[in-house]
Amino acid sequence: MNANADIYISKYKLYNYILPVLNSNMFMLAGDSSALLIDPIKSPEAEGLLEKKGTKELLILLTHEHYDHISGVNRWREWLSGITGHGKCFVFGSEKCRELAGSPRGNLSEYFMALVISKSPEEQALAERIFEKDYSCSVDRVFSGEYDFRWEDLRIFMKEMPGHSPGSICLEFYTANECGQPDQGRHAKDDNHDNPSAEPRYAKGLLALATGDSLVQGHKVITRVPGGNRKLYQSSVRPYLESFSPETLILPGHGKPGLLQDMELG
Ligand SMILES: [Fe+2]
Repeated sequence: MNANADIYISKYKLYNYILPVLNSNMFMLAGDSSALLIDPIKSPEAEGLLEKKGTKELLILLTHEHYDHISGVNRWREWLSGITGHGKCFVFGSEKCRELAGSPRGNLSEYFMALVISKSPEEQALAERIFEKDYSCSVDRVFSGEYDFRWEDLRIFMKEMPGHSPGSICLEFYTANECGQPDQGRHAKDDNHDNPSAEPRYAKGLLALATGDSLVQGHKVITRVPGGNRKLYQSSVRPYLESFSPETLILPGHGKPGLLQDMELG
């Protein structure tokens, strides 16, 4: 995989914006009049691009509730209503994510400055300026367990994956035509998530897997945060990740997108 080449999810170019200091990823796909954002950050550049495209609807998907992955939710709601006057913005995540995103203690924004203590003085000063210590946001739609839906030409399958945090989920992206029924093409019935030695599932039509912080490029997965659970990660999240083809395109919570075979599993 060429590190500098543009990445497409089906016909949609993948845009990647990065939260300064913590390098958390926001991913964006721009459709005809709707855009899909994963883990939004504030980004005037992304706003400009969507304004040019005439975007009137936003679907925001949250991989989990931690501040660095939800910090742009309120700004994007504000942006859309400023652009259209009444734009439709849906924020979607797990039930636990909604519960915890709604308070600075739950989403850890209260504590985020402690995470940058090892950074350079310049980065600490930047974090002091841009991080909000009492941040909270609302989540409009929730699911528990699994949820499958369609956005434009894509089918998106969301699955709860607590381990890094209670509200963590993973998002599987499929071509809608090759995945006509929920679970079709996923070999879901054949999965054995308790058996790490199970054959990898070469999911039909799978285009990408967004993992949030359940997989972070270049680092072991962090579970030593409030609500983190290493045992749960090892017993369910890791086997789930290992069930995919090594050539699966991963959109991680931090670090560059890449193939599963090139990522370190925590
Ligand atoms: Fe996180």
